[in-house]
Amino acid sequence: MVDTVLVVDDDPTQRRLLQAALERHGFKTRLAVDGPAALIALDAHSDIQLMLLDLVLPGKQGLEVLADARRSRPSLPVVVLTASGSVDVAVQATKAGANDFLVKPTSPERLVTTVQNAMETAALKGEVVRLGKRPSGRIGFDDMIAASPAMRMVTRLGQRAAASSIPVLVTGESGVGKELLARAIQGASDRAAKPFIAVNCGALPENLVESILFGHAKGAFTGAVSDHAGKFVEANHGTLFLDEVGELPLEAQVKLLRALQEGEVDPVGAKRPVKVDVRVLSATNKDLAKLVEEGRFREDLYYRLNVFPIEAPPLRDRREDIPALTARFVARFAAEENRPVRGCTPQAMAMLCQYDWPGNVRQLENAVFRAVVLSEGGDLGLEDFPHVSGLQPLLAANDVRMPAALAPANDAAPPAPSPDGYGFLNREGHVRAFIEVERELIVSALKRYHGRMTEVARRLGIGRSTLYRKMREYSLEEAAFRMG
Ligand SMILES: Nc1ncnc2c1ncn2[C@@H]1O[C@H](COP(=O)(O)OP(=O)(O)OP(=O)(O)O)[C@@H](O)[C@H]1O
Ligand SMILES: [Mg+2]
Repeated sequence: MVDTVLVVDDDPTQRRLLQAALERHGFKTRLAVDGPAALIALDAHSDIQLMLLDLVLPGKQGLEVLADARRSRPSLPVVVLTASGSVDVAVQATKAGANDFLVKPTSPERLVTTVQNAMETAALKGEVVRLGKRPSGRIGFDDMIAASPAMRMVTRLGQRAAASSIPVLVTGESGVGKELLARAIQGASDRAAKPFIAVNCGALPENLVESILFGHAKGAFTGAVSDHAGKFVEANHGTLFLDEVGELPLEAQVKLLRALQEGEVDPVGAKRPVKVDVRVLSATNKDLAKLVEEGRFREDLYYRLNVFPIEAPPLRDRREDIPALTARFVARFAAEENRPVRGCTPQAMAMLCQYDWPGNVRQLENAVFRAVVLSEGGDLGLEDFPHVSGLQPLLAANDVRMPAALAPANDAAPPAPSPDGYGFLNREGHVRAFIEVERELIVSALKRYHGRMTEVARRLGIGRSTLYRKMREYSLEEAAFRMG
């Protein structure tokens, strides 16, 4: 989507200049000649994402306009333009709710960077607010990305399961979202307000499995100093999620079966069973049917748990989910880590969509987390996903990007993308230092013409002695570029 900026300035020349600079950098603009016109534009056009406001206006002064705009569009980022760079004005404007200010005359680059930064910061704030709005901890099907037909089928099944109390067995590889699905089922069920107790059956110490699940009476064994309720009782009236249920020892399986059949549990060492009303959801990344064949999982329990099976497919079988998942994770981590990251370059997204993701959604989530935390901002590129792309992570903050048009013809690696398509902007969207670009250009020329200095100098349009001097400055060795 194109970002629209409302330019408010009474000076027609200024308006034009600002408009031209913004449009050249891909923004859409709307123009207003004074305060009232600006307020009308804000009401009429919800696509306006930022107001660029001259502080000195005829009639209504800029600061008043700012205050009025704040009332109708409280989260709209506003950048004010002032004629003087005095601290006073800046303080006043910030107090009135401006996000940033620019001193006139301003360069197009400064203007664009300031506008971009204000928009990104506002977007991050919006995301934090949105994330904060979710009622504490409760997860629903809205929280699950399901863009692919396969995943839509999974959520449809989940929704149906949520409408009843039947046991659900979620199967699927590690990291496909089994637990998230179980939580969504509980969040959409009429037990949503009741406890959701998750137990990782694979992580229970063998001698304590039964006590942890079904509780124990005081004195039942050494160390049982008081009665202990156990997970089933904790989950009473709610939902018990048995993760990695295939790991449950056989004795515990017997007790679990009884709990499911009779609706009661026998705490270790207790005289009487305890009635429980628990909805059981379970998950496994093992082939339970095979465990049954091998005698490691009770067949009767298998049928009890597997009343309503749902298989969560591996991510590589539903690649349509990758863009939406990536966008969700980028937005989340950018907000949580307060990083100005917006999304991915098309090249990076294409690569993420092609990768096989043996660790499934969890692996993608971790890859995005790492990329967001280490990124300078803007869009994540191929180099931000070194484990996926096979590219080495870049060491310098200002990464070295070769403009496509300048890359040596015989270079095997495709040129890394750049936000402006030319390689002159760094990941923050700032113009890179001249010497850095100059060095790259010389390296590129040296590679392309295999260190033939006369040719290199001629192509670069500089004298040979200048070329030698610059190569010394940049510590470049002529010999390193000669062929054979
Ligand atoms: N469809 C989805 N939409 C959004 N986030 C997802 C989705 N699927 C999985 N995730 C996220 O991916 C991560 C892994 O999911 P989850 O823990 O549910 O997987 P799992 O199958 O239980 O993994 P494991 O087998 O390793 O226990 C979680 O952070 C989860 O929030
Ligand atoms: Mg899990």
